[in-house]
Formats: sequence, C-alpha cells, structure tokens
Amino acid sequence: MSDRTTARRKLLVVANRAPVTYEGGTARRGGGGLVTALSGLIAHHDVTWVASAMSDGDRAVAAEHDGSFEETTRDGATYRLRLVVHDSAAYDRFYNVVANPALWFLQHYLWDLAPELGPEFLAAWDEGYVPVNEAFAAATLEELDREPEAAVLFHDYHLYLAPRLLREARPDVVSSHFIHIPWPEPDYWDALPAELRVAIHEGLLANDIVGFHTERWRDAFLACADRFVPERRGRVTRVVAHPIGVDADEFERLRDDPEVLEREAALIARRPEQLIVRVDRIDPSKNIVRGFEAFGLLLSEHPELHGRVGMMALLAPSRQDIPEYAEYAAAVERAAAEVNERFGRDGWTPVELDVADDFPRSLAGYKQFDVLYVNPVFDGLNLVAKEAFLLNERDGVLVLSENAGAHEELGEWALTVDPFDVSGQAGALYEALVLPADERRRRAEAIRAHVRAHDIREWISAQLSDLDAVRSGE
Ligand code: G6P
Repeated sequence: MSDRTTARRKLLVVANRAPVTYEGGTARRGGGGLVTALSGLIAHHDVTWVASAMSDGDRAVAAEHDGSFEETTRDGATYRLRLVVHDSAAYDRFYNVVANPALWFLQHYLWDLAPELGPEFLAAWDEGYVPVNEAFAAATLEELDREPEAAVLFHDYHLYLAPRLLREARPDVVSSHFIHIPWPEPDYWDALPAELRVAIHEGLLANDIVGFHTERWRDAFLACADRFVPERRGRVTRVVAHPIGVDADEFERLRDDPEVLEREAALIARRPEQLIVRVDRIDPSKNIVRGFEAFGLLLSEHPELHGRVGMMALLAPSRQDIPEYAEYAAAVERAAAEVNERFGRDGWTPVELDVADDFPRSLAGYKQFDVLYVNPVFDGLNLVAKEAFLLNERDGVLVLSENAGAHEELGEWALTVDPFDVSGQAGALYEALVLPADERRRRAEAIRAHVRAHDIREWISAQLSDLDAVRSGE
C-alpha cells in the first residue's frame, strides 16, 4: 500500500444499513457483509456513516441527537453515525416495493418480463424511493457542512438518485458509488419505464467513480450509460471493477472461536462421510430450490452414495416482509422435504435444512465441507466462495455458478456450473465428490492463496487510490 492510500482521511459512507442497530438503547452489530468489509475503513480513517434508522431503537437514538454522533465498534475504533429517520410508509415502499424486490430482482435477472408496473409501483417510486433518496442527500449535505473536505462513498442499489441531488448542491464534491450486485445488459433495463431507468443512470453518473466487483458488470453498465444517457454534458465518471476481498487474518482467528468450535463439534457428530455445504441468505437469486433438485437427481443416478453423502443448507432468513421471499422460503422447505421423503431412511437425512441467523454455524460449515455448493442464478460477487476456503480443513471442492461475480477470479479452480441446468449441476456435484485427493488439494490451495493475496485491504486501497486520482485529475 502506498503512503497516499494509508494516510488518514475524512470519509462519508452512505449506505442504507448502519453498522449497528439499537435495541432499547443498546447497540447490536448490524447484519450484512458491508459492515465487515468497511470495518477496515473505520479503523484507519475518520469515517461518518449515514444510514437509515430501521428499528424503533434506531429512531429513539436518532431523536436524541441533532445530526451525527460518536459510536465505537467492537474493536474499539470510533466513527460518527448519522441515522436518517424516514416516514415509515415511505420507507416501506422504498425497501419492500422498489429496492427489494423490484431493483434487486431486475438486477439479478429475476424480474418477470414483462412486469406489471401499475400505479402502485409508480407511486412507490414517487412516494418511497424518491423521498428516501432525498432524505439521504439532505443528511449527507449536512454532514458535509461539518466535514467539508470529506469524500462521499455511496453504496448499493438503495441510493441511485442521491448522488445527483448531492452533485447539484455541491458541484465540487468528490463522490463514488459502489454497486455490490450485478448490472444487467441494457435490453433488460428496458423493462423499467424510460424515465426511471434514465434517472437511475443519471444518478450514478453524477458520481466521479462508479465501482463494480467484475468486468462483466462494469461493461454492462458502460453499455447502459451509452444507451440511456448519451449526452454526458462534459462530466467524466470513472467506471471501475474492483472485486471485494475478505479480512483473511480476522477469518483465520475465528477458526478457534469457542462458539465456532461448539457448532463444529455438533456438526461433526451428525455429518455423513462426505458433506456438501451451502451457506446463503434465503433469496430467490441464490437458487436453493434448483440446488436441492440437482442433489435429488444425483441421488437417483448414484444409489451407491445413499447413506454416505449429505447436503447441509445453512440458511439465514431475509426480507421476510416481501411476499416473494416468504413464498421462496416455503418452496425451499418443500424442495428439501421432497428429497428427504424420496431417499431418506433411518439414520440418514439426505438434506439438512438449518435456518437461523447464526454466523458461528456458517463458519463451522466452512471448516467441514467436502464440496462447497455456490450456484446463484446471478450474484454480484458471493463472499461465501472466498471466506469458506480460508477455514476449510478437508481440501473441499468449489462448485461455482458461472454467473457469480467470484467466478471471474476463482473459476479456473472451481467446477463451473450453469445455474439453470439441473442435470449439469448433478454431474458437477458427482465430479466434485470423486475428484482425486491431489487435485482437490491443488485447487483448494490455489483458491486460498488467491483469497489471501487479494484481501480486503487491496479493495479498500483501490477505492482510496481512485479518489486520489479524481482529486489530482490524473
Ligand atoms: C446483500 C447484497 C448487498 C446489499 C444487502 C442488503 O448482502 O450483497 O449488496 O446491500 O444484501 O441487504 P439487506 O438485508 O439490508 O436488505
């Protein structure tokens, strides 16, 4: 890392989810990978984090403060937190109608063609997505008044409109926007009304930098920008691809965490001879149902595996107020039950479904898998594919969707699958289970070495170098 990128700086992180959430005045660590990813920023720089107040506790804490206030992370680093309080009906439409599912589904190619964009959806945009973005822009401007030199780092699909509002008020601000999910091709964006897709792309192009995890999403964004905003009015936006990494040292420290060891002992007590593990939020983009179907097909084609192989799905509930998510959770249960009814017998449950928000349990799964199954329909990156190899102790094999962003980096050491092709996935699971030991080791070591060599510090310093390049006009 150069001195330039290690020098302490003032940064305004703007993301829907805060690093913490409050319950009765007590701070609890917020969910999501972004918090982990950005903890390095908080540790080394003067960070103010602007986020939505989501719980009653968050709103109570926000009401006690005028603007941002100081907070401390578990590791003892201090930062400032600004909680933006939204009208609850507006926030509901923003989060549960526009951001998820509409933008999330659209950007993971899960949106029905053609979607029904009736008055309800358009009202959710006008009275939910727009005002929440306005509130974020206003709070960011206030925080900039306190720290006029700070660079602004927007994150994700919740905030596509805020950068333009910020730019109009502060033409000289330096801002970037990192998108952690896929960017679809221009034709697919056509499913959204013209005015909305133009607003999204204009909003993003108001930043100095727009970042993605892969070249694939970046190239798609460039094609979209040409199609939807052909007139750039002289503004230059750098569009970059920086795949995010993992804090490898922190992960390896967790190997012997007492809670992880406890979950691991329980897992070892019930594991079959060979174990296929998946770790996901319950989300249609994760393709869990097809995964169970592929496993069922594998068992029907290979009776010799009965009783010896099992699949553990370590799943976390997600976005349960959205009907599509509730329906998908039920479909996941049904698909697992079908495989178990068909093949299960005394002493052997082929699919073990474990639904809980339990990070130590996931880490125990990382240590114990023989096959890691990552088959998303589409995924911005997929950190599971990286994290798991830092902890795995069995030279496990990665079965990886070609549509996971991580495939751009790890594909050469994985068994690649088409996420729609159930037969192909059954075949890849079989191949993974019978791969010779030396080949398993070669691949697992290569993945581990790659993840260690390109860890989270590389991603953070790439962002900071980009900001420097903007400032110096390079
Ligand atoms: C996933 C995505 C992130 C996104 C997050 C939001 O983790 O990869 O890009 O910010 O979901 O999750 P939430 O629980 O806040 O809806």
